[in-house]
Amino acid sequence: MALIELSSITKTYHIGEMDVDVLKGVDLSVEAGELLAIMGESGGGKSTLMNIIGFLDSPSGGAYKFDGEDVDHLDDNDLARIRNQKIGFIFQQFNLLPRLTALENVSLPLVYRGVPSHQREKLAEQMLKRVGMGDRMTHHPPELSGGQQQRVAIARALSGSPSLILADEPTGALDSQVSQEIMDIFLDLNREKKITTVMVTHDPKVGRQCRRTVRMADGCLVEV
Ligand SMILES: Nc1ncnc2c1ncn2[C@@H]1O[C@H](COP(=O)(O)OP(=O)(O)O)[C@@H](O)[C@H]1O
Ligand SMILES: [Mg+2]
Repeated sequence: MALIELSSITKTYHIGEMDVDVLKGVDLSVEAGELLAIMGESGGGKSTLMNIIGFLDSPSGGAYKFDGEDVDHLDDNDLARIRNQKIGFIFQQFNLLPRLTALENVSLPLVYRGVPSHQREKLAEQMLKRVGMGDRMTHHPPELSGGQQQRVAIARALSGSPSLILADEPTGALDSQVSQEIMDIFLDLNREKKITTVMVTHDPKVGRQCRRTVRMADGCLVEV
């Protein structure tokens, strides 16, 4: 059974009097354990699609099954629970809280999962060590390089043991050497922990390392 099953997904934004059809019938099936790259022109709807896959936005039409469940039938509480327990997000701009330490940033999502505080810290430490940030745990994001911040963001996404990682241009703000270090972390996680990973990227070098690539073109996805 596919983890993600999208059929004829559409998304139309209404801007004033204008309707903008961003997604025009996206079909996509992602099996558990896959590592998928989504490529395509800027403004083509890749982030819109990622937000729909991660329940941050809802489609205008079409059907979405996540882990066998019809997403359309889930209420906001169900969506929040599944998002919290099964999905880890990683963004181009890291989106860490600047006034919290790396350790606190990684611990925070665990508060919402009801993990007791002594366990939160232990888990967060493990995850930071896993991404090579064991010696920077009490640093604040502004004291870290871009690559280090992205490592912390990955640790944060991993702290709840997600079954799906959604990474929207995770290396877009990094130089090529650091990009590769971050990419190696994603490759390792996918290989070792079988975490299903969907990654938007502009970088052909990153795309080539994913086992499967699809391209967003004119509001639809095509296999590459
Ligand atoms: N919340 C929104 N309201 C209106 N238009 C939006 C919104 N989000 C994205 N768009 C428009 O949808 C199109 C696709 O955007 P996006 O999904 O961010 O593309 P990509 O990630 O491929 O660059 C763009 O034209 C963008 O301006
Ligand atoms: Mg985008």
